[in-house]
Formats: sequence, structure tokens, C-alpha cells
Amino acid sequence: MSEPLLALRNVEAYYGPILAVQGISLDIREAGIVTLLGANGAGKSTVLKAISGIVEPQKGTMVFAGRDLRGLEPDAVVGLGLLHVPEGREVFPFLTVRENLLLGAYRHRDRDRAQADLDRMYRYFPVLRERLDQAALNLSGGEQQMLAIARALMARPQLLLLDEPSLGLSPRLVGEIFAIIRRINADAGTTILVVEQNAHKALEIADYGYVLENGRIVMEGAAQYLADRPDIREFYLGMRDHGARGAHRWKRKKLWR
Ligand SMILES: Nc1ncnc2c1ncn2[C@@H]1O[C@H](COP(=O)(O)OP(=O)(O)OP(=O)(O)O)[C@@H](O)[C@H]1O
Ligand SMILES: [Mg+2]
Repeated sequence: MSEPLLALRNVEAYYGPILAVQGISLDIREAGIVTLLGANGAGKSTVLKAISGIVEPQKGTMVFAGRDLRGLEPDAVVGLGLLHVPEGREVFPFLTVRENLLLGAYRHRDRDRAQADLDRMYRYFPVLRERLDQAALNLSGGEQQMLAIARALMARPQLLLLDEPSLGLSPRLVGEIFAIIRRINADAGTTILVVEQNAHKALEIADYGYVLENGRIVMEGAAQYLADRPDIREFYLGMRDHGARGAHRWKRKKLWR
């Protein structure tokens, strides 16, 4: 077995006295898609923040492509090719779509390369081409999410961390975002760690998954294995194992709304 691209061992992270991540170990294989699942407050975003240097872990090791990540500033982590798209579409609202994208390529001052990458982004996200000269604040939530992902891709990351890319999107856009994530992985071999509440979609595109509860990994395995487990189906996919793929339960849920 070759070394994983990213390996975390016994990582612990606190917010003041609160232990948010309680000794996490995980491996991300090169060119794979791994998903991190868990309920609200489980610690998913904190794991991503620890990896990208936004939160400093108190314990454990984090090794990316042979480099120790601990103690590195977020900017240095970006320099290693590790890009984090945080929860909540952080784009520069008063800059245009094009300006937002070019900022993603700020480390590479090669114009031909930037233009080629812009063209690639427009192929992934045609809607961005149509809105090129508009301020990012005029984009819809889904379009801003696409812009945030595209801006990270402009840096040609080796590892992309995505925090809830489907949050707040319409079902059609959710499908679109996941299809694009899969395509990015297939085209460029970009390794992806995606945090999701939409376990069903995430397990469809991932090859491996971890389930986080109260800051600990309580389960891990091949995505298909996790998707087939009755407890995962029940708690994260909202399905019961009687009835056609949980249709019964969905109907009940709809009645409550
Ligand atoms: N800046 C902060 N200060 C104090 N506590 C925090 C802070 N950020 C997160 N926490 C706490 O740490 C724990 C883990 O939070 P985290 O944001 O990592 O969860 P999450 O799994 O990403 O949740 P969600 O699905 O709601 O995004 C929670 O108990 C949360 O309240
Ligand atoms: Mg979160």
C-alpha cells in the first residue's frame, strides 16, 4: 500500500475548554473521494479547519504529502496545494465573478495558465461564464457555491476540502454540484474530502467514508458498505429497511411539514 496523501492521527482540537475533536485518525488516499458524515455539531467543520490551519490542534499529527501540517498558517497550507472551501460560500461580494476566480490563481502569475483554467471553470460551471462581469453578491446561493468551488480549483489543488457544498441548494442544483465534484476528481485526479449532511449523495460519489459523532469517529468503511448499513440508512439517509427504499418514512415526514 502506498502512503495516503493525507494522514491524521489522534488529532484533538478545543475551542477554549470545549473538546470539539476528540482524537481523530483518518487516511485520504491519493485521487480518492472521501466523505465525512455526522449530525450538526459532530465536529466535521473543525476537522477541516484543523487540516487547513484555521484551528490549531492541541494533539496529534497531520501529514500531507510527506509534510507535517501542524503549526502551519492557512496561507502556507494553501501553498502546499491543499484548498478549503468553507461552509457558507465565502466569495468576495463586491468583486466580479472573473475577479473572484483570478484571485484563486494569485500564486500563479502566468496569464496563459490562468486563462486556460478560467476556460476549464466555465466548462464545469457554464452559469459563471454568463455572469462573468457581475458582482458576486448578485449571484444566487447556488451560483455563489459554484464560484467558491471554482475559485479553489483555480489554484489547481492536490487536495480539495469541501464543507457542505450542497447546503441550501435546490434538489436539482444538489445533483449538479455532486456531478461536478465527481467530474473534477475524474478529470484532474484531484483528491477530495467532502463534509456532508446529505449522506445519500455523498456516499454515491465517495469511495470511502467516516462517520463522526461528538468529535469521534464511530464508524468507517467503503462508501457502498456504509450506504448499505441499516443504522446509517436509518440515521443519516432517513430510510427504514421496510418499504421500498424508505418511501414510507419520507411520506410521513412530508405530512409533518
Ligand atoms: N468558534 C467556536 N467556538 C466555540 N465552540 C465552537 C466553535 N466552533 C464550533 N464549536 C463547537 O464545536 C463543536 C463542533 O462544531 P463543528 O462546527 O465542527 O461541527 P459540524 O459537525 O461542522 O456541525 P454542522 O453540521 O452544524 O456544521 C460543536 O459543539 C460546536 O458548538
Ligand atoms: Mg460544519
